[in-house]
Amino acid sequence: MGGRLQLSKQWYSHFRVIVLCSFLHLGLSAQIAQYAVDYAPLIWLHSDDQYMPSDIKEHVLRTAPRIDFQRIADGPLRLDLDNLSSLNGYGKNGTNVFLTAVEDVTTFPGWVLGETPDEDGALHNSTACAVVAVQHEIPGKQTVVDVFYFYFYSWNEGGDITQVVPPLNRLFPDSKPGDHFGNHLGDWEHNMIRFVDEKPVGIYFSHHAGGEVCVWDDESCLSKRGERPVVFSARGSHANYPSEGSHIHDDALIDIADRGRLWDPVKLAYFYTYDPATETFTAAEPGTAPTDWLYFNGNWGDQQYQDSDPRQQTVPYFGLKKYYSGPNGPKFKRLVRRGLMPDEKGKFNLIKTLVHWYMGWYGCCLKGINPWLVVIGLLIALATVITLGVVSARLARPAVKAWVQTRKDRQTKEETAEVQLRLLDPERADADDEA
Ligand SMILES: *[C@@H]1O[C@H](CO)[C@@H](O)[C@H](O)[C@H]1NC(C)=O
Ligand SMILES: *[C@@H]1O[C@H](CO)[C@@H](O)[C@H](O)[C@H]1NC(C)=O
Ligand SMILES: *[C@@H]1O[C@H](CO)[C@@H](O)[C@H](O)[C@H]1NC(C)=O
Repeated sequence: MGGRLQLSKQWYSHFRVIVLCSFLHLGLSAQIAQYAVDYAPLIWLHSDDQYMPSDIKEHVLRTAPRIDFQRIADGPLRLDLDNLSSLNGYGKNGTNVFLTAVEDVTTFPGWVLGETPDEDGALHNSTACAVVAVQHEIPGKQTVVDVFYFYFYSWNEGGDITQVVPPLNRLFPDSKPGDHFGNHLGDWEHNMIRFVDEKPVGIYFSHHAGGEVCVWDDESCLSKRGERPVVFSARGSHANYPSEGSHIHDDALIDIADRGRLWDPVKLAYFYTYDPATETFTAAEPGTAPTDWLYFNGNWGDQQYQDSDPRQQTVPYFGLKKYYSGPNGPKFKRLVRRGLMPDEKGKFNLIKTLVHWYMGWYGCCLKGINPWLVVIGLLIALATVITLGVVSARLARPAVKAWVQTRKDRQTKEETAEVQLRLLDPERADADDEA
């Protein structure tokens, strides 16, 4: 009885929250759109980047869904932004569906190049940006509105040998400039600006597995044009940085950014709000933007080609591939965060950790030593430590065994003595029983 009452009370307050949220939601949408535009980032694309922002819908129309490289339907499965999430009914809840280019994408058909913005930074034929506003409460703190600016590029070009930090570049003597590794079809990048009381407080820049944050008023970190933050998109990878020049990521690879061409992403964009409680996206103004595609669980490009595929190549030892799988979409980019950075930490990666260690010691102690020698030296050191460990364990075993045996013997002797004592002293045995 009490349980049921409590339950319905809970339900009632839950219901109230939902109703309240929907009202807030309706009231907020237009408002959000305004300051989301006023403070929206401006993007400098690299002067030599061939792969420009791309129309999200065109990308879907140029691809067909595949699972394990196989078409998932007998006939042609035409999809657009209003029914893309129907693919969640295939495979593992859609997560293993890959939007695969109909043409061989490694021949670079025109559509993967996207559209070059005009002098004013505007795109005319391509909606390559989705703005998503998320209002939520930071537990124990305040209510914030996080506005995500998602940028879409049909092609991600990975780095080539000129982008490997010395001396690591000496590990790949056969690689030529222009031979890019880490490419993939489909590239989602983003900035996020946090607003408190409609004022921006900080901005997040996505790059590769991680990202970085600038406090809004920190001029040493963030530059602005008027009120708008300026963002630099690295050549090929489109990783976002707050400054131009070279940026080292993962200790080993260099991203290059410059003031090439300006792109104003919100001149042509879809605007949404996202409700964390119901996990739903709503067009900021009804009917202005398709929402269905945002629920797609799958991947926005070809699946990583198998090693047997003639297009695929692998960097020896490091396992770096020429082509990777396309990424998944905006809803997977941690739309609800405590801070500006995504909450979760990246997974442990041995190679990355070793590279980090190596680069840390390089400046002081490893300069001038061929990196391969360091690797071999490390392996020898590791083997020595393991061998020493095993040998000493072997040597110590008889001694340890003997010691354990003596202890056991002594204990048995003591216990026997105790029992004998008790037998000789019945009163003490009784006291023990009571205790
Ligand atoms: C998706 O929508 C498009 C355009 O309305 C239509 O041509 C297509 O048949 C639809 N596909 C599916 C699988 O429903
Ligand atoms: C399918 O994926 C969505 C989003 O990741 C998740 O919310 C849902 O619970 C999943 N459904 C099943 C049956 O796994
Ligand atoms: C937009 O598309 C039309 C028709 O396909 C084309 O004529 C025009 O040149 C395109 N404009 C830009 C800026 O790409």
